[in-house]
Amino acid sequence: MRALLSALILGAAGVLAPPAIAADEDVLRAGKRVYMTKTCLACHGRNGAKPIMSYPALAGQNAKYLVQQLELIKSGERTGSVDPATGHPFVQGMADIMHLLTEEDMENVSAWLTEQKPAAPEVLDPAPTEAELKAGAKIYKRLGCRTCHGKTGDKTQKDLYPFIAGLDRDYLVRQMTDMREKIRTGGKVKLMFGVIKRADDEDIAAIATWLSQLDRNE
Ligand code: HEC
Ligand code: HEC
Repeated sequence: MRALLSALILGAAGVLAPPAIAADEDVLRAGKRVYMTKTCLACHGRNGAKPIMSYPALAGQNAKYLVQQLELIKSGERTGSVDPATGHPFVQGMADIMHLLTEEDMENVSAWLTEQKPAAPEVLDPAPTEAELKAGAKIYKRLGCRTCHGKTGDKTQKDLYPFIAGLDRDYLVRQMTDMREKIRTGGKVKLMFGVIKRADDEDIAAIATWLSQLDRNE
């Protein structure tokens, strides 16, 4: 009995040993099904990599961050600025469908999304100049964004923090502005407040242009 128990314990420890366990096939399949059947596709696009308008890309995002944001949007804790086209917060259309998801659905869809390949950067017209891109990178460095989001927005200090490289430029501008104005709420967003208040509109635009042009697949 004792031998069996220790074998079981060892077995369990063996399974848990690597910190990032690859999500199993069933979880991925269930996650994809949530994405395809619960309207996510309509707004966030194919595999979470081709969002419409100024909506966020989700492909390759940190799974823990995704779960947390889904919970915050479902509970109404995360709000943000109003879309002038609808008169409601940008996030409203999504908040309205979140009752379709269980906690397990949120975990599964996040596990699937984090495995998807991030899209190539959006093509901006006019294309930003080298000097404009460098200016954005410089401000990002000066303001200390690297501490939490990595040198080029694609590494994070904690799994709960988001990757920000390669997101849509207008989405980035809106989030940074909403956080500076303290309109985006919930989760760990307070960690952003002290830093982003030192950025003016031009700084935010420059950072967003630079981040939007970084390719996470490189
Ligand atoms: C009607 C359009 C719409 C639908 C449907 C929708 N979303 Fe969203 N989603 C948005 C918008 C818009 C935002 C960003 C809100 C903002 O800018 O404040 C968002 C934000 C998110 C975020 C936070 C991303 C980040 O980087 O912080 C996640 C995660 C997310 N959506 C996942 C999903 C999933 C999963 C589904 C399906 C269950 C879904 N969304 C359905 C429009 C939608
Ligand atoms: C102390 C850590 C920390 C620092 C420093 C920091 N951030 Fe963040 N950032 C976060 C966290 C945590 C979130 C997620 C907030 C939440 O839970 O909703 C975030 C969210 C964001 C988002 C929204 C991403 C999305 O998908 O919606 C952007 C954009 C962003 N940060 C840019 C920046 C920039 C630019 C700087 C420098 C001016 C910066 N951050 C500095 C911790 C930090």
